[in-house]
Amino acid sequence: MDFIFTQTPKYWWSGDPFMSHFMNNLSSLFPYGEKFFVDSVRAARDQVKDPQLQKDISAFIGQEAMHSKEHATYNDYAAEHGIDLERLELRIKVLMEWVTRFSTLKMRVAVTCALEHFTATMAEQLLRREDINLQMSDPRMYRLWMWHAIEENEHKAVAYDVYQAIGGGYFQRTSIMILTTLLFLGVIGWFQLHLLRKDGQLFNGKAWKYGLKTLFGPRNGYITGLIKPYLSYYRPGFHPNDHDTRALEKRWKDALAFEG
Ligand SMILES: [Fe+2]
Ligand SMILES: [Fe+2]
Repeated sequence: MDFIFTQTPKYWWSGDPFMSHFMNNLSSLFPYGEKFFVDSVRAARDQVKDPQLQKDISAFIGQEAMHSKEHATYNDYAAEHGIDLERLELRIKVLMEWVTRFSTLKMRVAVTCALEHFTATMAEQLLRREDINLQMSDPRMYRLWMWHAIEENEHKAVAYDVYQAIGGGYFQRTSIMILTTLLFLGVIGWFQLHLLRKDGQLFNGKAWKYGLKTLFGPRNGYITGLIKPYLSYYRPGFHPNDHDTRALEKRWKDALAFEG
């Protein structure tokens, strides 16, 4: 895939600063976040005996490497509008280096599993919820996010299967999920305030109202809808493929004419 964002308006999410920056915020996590996933899974790969899982790992690495690349291209949009996403990306780079320094390989694969559960469940909502995804009013952004959402669902079980293949257990998986959740929410909150402040939108009440309703609305909030699937990760027998999304992925691939 090759995405070009040079004509994308600054507030590409329905003209709204809060949600546009929320998605910019998420995008800034990907280049080094997904590099961390790839490095972790790759380092564990020689302990994996199953030939099918070896193939899945290759596909996973290929997909995540492309996501990193395309979300780095996203910076063309950001640079055009004076949004310094590269600075945020470098903070993630430092954070992931720090996590790498103070963890074992199994812990890093567990962190990858936890974050892949976030990406898969967030992505699934984006695919299912047309009331949300149609709010992406820029067609280039819409294509990028939907493409990424499809692929996140396609490979959602790979890190988990690797974690199990290297002997990862329930206690470590769930305790790492708790820590990763705290870190993830902290970083997103920090980056969101930073992006709004730098853009002079920190006190834009209308944008906050729209953004908080879109994310946390009691009935239809994007994040509200993630709570149940998030909690399923703590079930002892949980597996990402318990929840089959293949038909959903196929429908979107056909609709957007993506290959593969
Ligand atoms: Fe990805
Ligand atoms: Fe992924």
